[in-house]
Amino acid sequence: MPRQNNNRNEIPVKQFDLLIRNGTVVTASDTVQCDIAIAGGRIVQLGHDLGSAREEIDASGKLVLPGGVDAHCHLDQPMPDGLKMADDFESGTISAACGGTTTVIPFAAQEKGQSLRAAVADYHRRAEGRAVVDYAFHLIVSDPTETVLRDELPSLIRKGYTSFKVYMTYDDLKLNDREILDVLTVARQEGALVMIHAENSDCIAWLTDRLEAEQKTAPRFHAIARPMAIEREATHRAITFSELVDVPILIVHVSGREAVEQIRWSRARGMKIFAETCPQYLFLTASDLDQPGYHGAKCVCSPPPRDRANQEVIWDGVADGLFTIFSSDHAPFRYDDPQGKQPGGQEVPFRYIPNGIPGLETRLPLLFSEGVGGGRISLNQFVALTSTNPAKLYGLHPRKGTIAIGADADLAIWDPQREVVIRNADLHHAVDYTPYEGTRVKGWPVTTLVRGKVVAHEGRMQATAGHGEFLPCALPEMAKPRYRTSGGSL
Ligand code: URP
Ligand code: ZN
Ligand code: ZN
Repeated sequence: MPRQNNNRNEIPVKQFDLLIRNGTVVTASDTVQCDIAIAGGRIVQLGHDLGSAREEIDASGKLVLPGGVDAHCHLDQPMPDGLKMADDFESGTISAACGGTTTVIPFAAQEKGQSLRAAVADYHRRAEGRAVVDYAFHLIVSDPTETVLRDELPSLIRKGYTSFKVYMTYDDLKLNDREILDVLTVARQEGALVMIHAENSDCIAWLTDRLEAEQKTAPRFHAIARPMAIEREATHRAITFSELVDVPILIVHVSGREAVEQIRWSRARGMKIFAETCPQYLFLTASDLDQPGYHGAKCVCSPPPRDRANQEVIWDGVADGLFTIFSSDHAPFRYDDPQGKQPGGQEVPFRYIPNGIPGLETRLPLLFSEGVGGGRISLNQFVALTSTNPAKLYGLHPRKGTIAIGADADLAIWDPQREVVIRNADLHHAVDYTPYEGTRVKGWPVTTLVRGKVVAHEGRMQATAGHGEFLPCALPEMAKPRYRTSGGSL
């Protein structure tokens, strides 16, 4: 916790709001011993003997990292069929803060038939006054009407909603190929970034029907209905669309080898295809859906976790730069809940289990422990994947995602020696389980600051709901097209 500076005899050379002393400061490119001076919520000096401040934090033996930017999480997203996400902006962002994350980017999701502007206005109402960390919005485009494509989307992009997700699956959200091409065309015109959920919907439906006809409806069959091949095909198709329109895209939540191969192939052809992966593809396998009884429902997410060999392929991509960002895809449904994993209070066939698992608070410690601690990635890569790159990709850098003069003082102070056994009872989300129960990690974010204010310390909240501010996003410089044509392939 910050310590009050009570030495009244000391004449301040410079009076800052806060000084963080004696820490090892880590950015995506550098690791240095220096102090950080903060005033007005921003970093104003880096160095030694910086003067005095109203408060100080002694970070001896600790690492001072840019706060995490979780660029893929779902909070209080309206759901169909009586389902409800467990986390709203308050519980979700408290959980984020306690896990070292200082910016979240959830989704303002358009329902079919709804105006995109109305979806954004509704989502602002859900966030307003509730968040403790800062937040931006991606859009989910599920109904690309003429009005959406010509008017709403371009005008929302110009107002700071510069990224949007499209789905190739889920009946209530999916677009057909032509619609995806139309959305990509708007992204190209405006300089926005499209995130694509790549799974082949018809193949999933066909496999699901066949499995159900054989009474194979337990949670573990979710993974069998969504094999790697259908993710590979959809990934290739998405890459083809990107080529046709000549615009960069991001493939979200990549789960294994065959999708990775498609992305490597596209990069070798000079395409700007970005890729994201998530903890579930490094730390879970399909066997986690095969727990006794119905408990496998806890790990139902899409694409599903694969096997150990695929985990290694994902680790390789994390280490060698194939993946630009590492996000949680936190999609919070309670297990023991009629609005969650047991819709209507029933253990339902896998097709009705809401997809998604929680992970906002465990994203960073898991990657830190196994990635950095396990010698797979450097500390600087850790910062790049979890903070700097997502901030750059979504137009929030350099305000977010780095430790630099002028940047927001969004910081996570890590104890690299702290050993923690993950227990849901110690987490701060509103979900009644974590898939990582009992996992031992080394390294934990002990203090989290958002714009110079300590928001979480030793797992306790120090800020009130409403500290978090909305962040309009700039057009993503990092995702700027390298146009090969003057207007796509047209
Ligand atoms: O299973 C998942 N990933 N649920 C969240 C929604 C999505 O597709 O990201
Ligand atoms: Zn998705
Ligand atoms: Zn998601």
